[in-house]
Amino acid sequence: MYSHDILVIGAGLSGLRIAIEVAKDVDVAILSKVHPLRSHSVAAQGGMNASLGEQDSWEAHAFDTVKGSDYLADQDAVEVMARGAPRAVIENEQWGTAFSRTDDGKIAQRPFGGAMFPRTCYAADRTGHNLLHTTFEQASRLGVTFYHEWFLTSLVQSEGKACGVTAIDIATGEIHGIKAKAVVLATGGFGRVYGYSTNALINTGDGAAVALRAGVPLKDMEFVQFHPTTLYPSGILITEGARGEGGYLLNTQGERFMVEYAPKQMELAPRDIVARAIQTEINQGRGFEDSYVHLDLTHLGREKIMERLPGIRDISMFFAGVDPIVSPIPVRPGQHYSMGGIHCDKDGITSLSGLYAVGETACMSVHGANRLGGNSLLETLVFGRLVGQKVKEYVSRDPDVNSCGVEQAAFEMRERLQAILLRESGESPAEIRAQLGEIMDNEVGVFRDQETLESALKAIRFLKERSEKIALARSDTRFNYSLIRALELENTLDLAEVITMTALMRRESRGAHWRTDYPERDDESFLKHSLVTLGDDYLKTEYIDVNLGMFEVKERTY
Ligand code: FUM
Repeated sequence: MYSHDILVIGAGLSGLRIAIEVAKDVDVAILSKVHPLRSHSVAAQGGMNASLGEQDSWEAHAFDTVKGSDYLADQDAVEVMARGAPRAVIENEQWGTAFSRTDDGKIAQRPFGGAMFPRTCYAADRTGHNLLHTTFEQASRLGVTFYHEWFLTSLVQSEGKACGVTAIDIATGEIHGIKAKAVVLATGGFGRVYGYSTNALINTGDGAAVALRAGVPLKDMEFVQFHPTTLYPSGILITEGARGEGGYLLNTQGERFMVEYAPKQMELAPRDIVARAIQTEINQGRGFEDSYVHLDLTHLGREKIMERLPGIRDISMFFAGVDPIVSPIPVRPGQHYSMGGIHCDKDGITSLSGLYAVGETACMSVHGANRLGGNSLLETLVFGRLVGQKVKEYVSRDPDVNSCGVEQAAFEMRERLQAILLRESGESPAEIRAQLGEIMDNEVGVFRDQETLESALKAIRFLKERSEKIALARSDTRFNYSLIRALELENTLDLAEVITMTALMRRESRGAHWRTDYPERDDESFLKHSLVTLGDDYLKTEYIDVNLGMFEVKERTY
């Protein structure tokens, strides 16, 4: 039987950073459904925030983050993140991350949305790529065990404690139980609940869905971030760094329309505001082909684009046939980030003893109703380190997991999956997945209302029923990706239901959650986190207080 002190699920920045923190003292393993260097952290482009500038301070960073969150962030957690940011940047720089430099050799910082100072440290427009390679090197150097291409299927608990998981070794198709004194979920976001998303196809929320089914609550799931500038029509991310470097947004009239929506911050207002502005321009007939606006970088000049945004140029040329040195880039909003996730505190502690969560799959909540660009890479590294310390403390108390039934759980999972593999005819998972994406894009998008949300919820529940009768394209076991896709579908459906249900229940507009039928923020009723728990076959919703304290709750203008 496989057994470790700490088992981390997910090999992106959060998972790797935890492993680095604990590897010298305990036996830690990382299980990941892809090779670590294919984790979605690799796709992060624009950078990571830290108050390194002389005028800047952690307090200013914390304030921008809380205001950007539309006051839903827990301010104690934000404080930890903002205070920890400079250390996280310097640590990674010393490990070898090739941060871009100023002429006098300092770490360069670019302006990002909703920030008072240029605060975003970057490695051209390939920051995640650089950081992921650096952290993977460190984890490998420390001898962390990796289960490459293993897929999480369930969480196992005994006597009120998490004590392991079941997982499929994708190469062989075998289902194993892995015992651990502590399990950390670091499985990233769940953007692929939507069809049009900047997220990798692997981002199906496996950790969050498994936690939900294990009775662990999810928090603030209605808050889904739509990045303002994704490449039309593919949805590939065009970094906010392009606007940070001075790019303009233009409509069909050639107007820099952000002047109507955020006259002071213009293109560098927070993402929720810019995404709504672009969508409004498109909806009101000032978009090109009724579908996109222009992101114009031509005035930046060849040299700046080649030095600071080389990846964006490549992406635009390869996927839209546009060279941003000479022509504007076609962009529109698309799903990008999940502010909500597994309910936990700033130490990553969940409601289940021995189970921790960190990174995008967790909701600590440092982003509240709207995350600022550059705070996501930061969250993974600051909290990866801190949660690592907490998990290590927990396992040093030697929790008793002797009665953990991972083998029995693996046996039951084998029976369940065998039944799916042997079903000869039924619904197509790919078809259900495509329909789910369309429903979420059209009815749970930048703008929502009661009618669209009710219609979406009904349709999602119908898809869930259909998904109980799926049949796979293949019934063999080795590298059976049709089985993996079917299990991912189950995860996305469960999360879509929670997102839509909480969006329906939140009858106000706050941050990225914009209800056209309730266009005001309603602090009296909804300055609260939503919490959803799976009961005996039904979803229970409640609301809990936001940790306020440092900054007064105010109207948000830019
Ligand atoms: O626009 C971007 O480069 C994305 C950054 C982020 O999501 O933090």
